[in-house]
Amino acid sequence: MSRLKELRKYVDAEINKMEDVDKRTGAIAHLYGVSLAATMIAKKRGLDHEIASMAAMLHDLYAYKSGSYDDHAHLGAELAREILTELKLTDENETEQICSAIYHHDDKLVTDGPMDEVLKDADVIHHCMNDLSKPIKEKEQARFERLCEEFGM
Ligand SMILES: [Fe+2]
Repeated sequence: MSRLKELRKYVDAEINKMEDVDKRTGAIAHLYGVSLAATMIAKKRGLDHEIASMAAMLHDLYAYKSGSYDDHAHLGAELAREILTELKLTDENETEQICSAIYHHDDKLVTDGPMDEVLKDADVIHHCMNDLSKPIKEKEQARFERLCEEFGM
């Protein structure tokens, strides 16, 4: 089994503990949607798409488990570190990249490292493109426009 598949199996089991069916469906759609977008963006930028995809699968897990988005990026990075330490799927450097991306992913208005930016952009792609009839959040507008330009959309 690939390590992405193994991580997804773990995440699926965690998400399946959510009692609210709509929230559960939304969580799965978002994590897998961001994971796909992260793969595409990382591949386009010559970065490790597997690490990007794994970061995406974990990026909002804390919020889904706790039911709160308060400081979910920073707390989510801690949770991701615990999970990755337990699952032993990544080396130290890969764990750092994933946890850094999750830690910074809510800071959409600033620019961080290349892998951090992949996760932010993948999150924005899913927020904006999951339903194009919905208005785009102000803090995501500029980033979405840059992405449309980068991908020729
Ligand atoms: Fe997200």
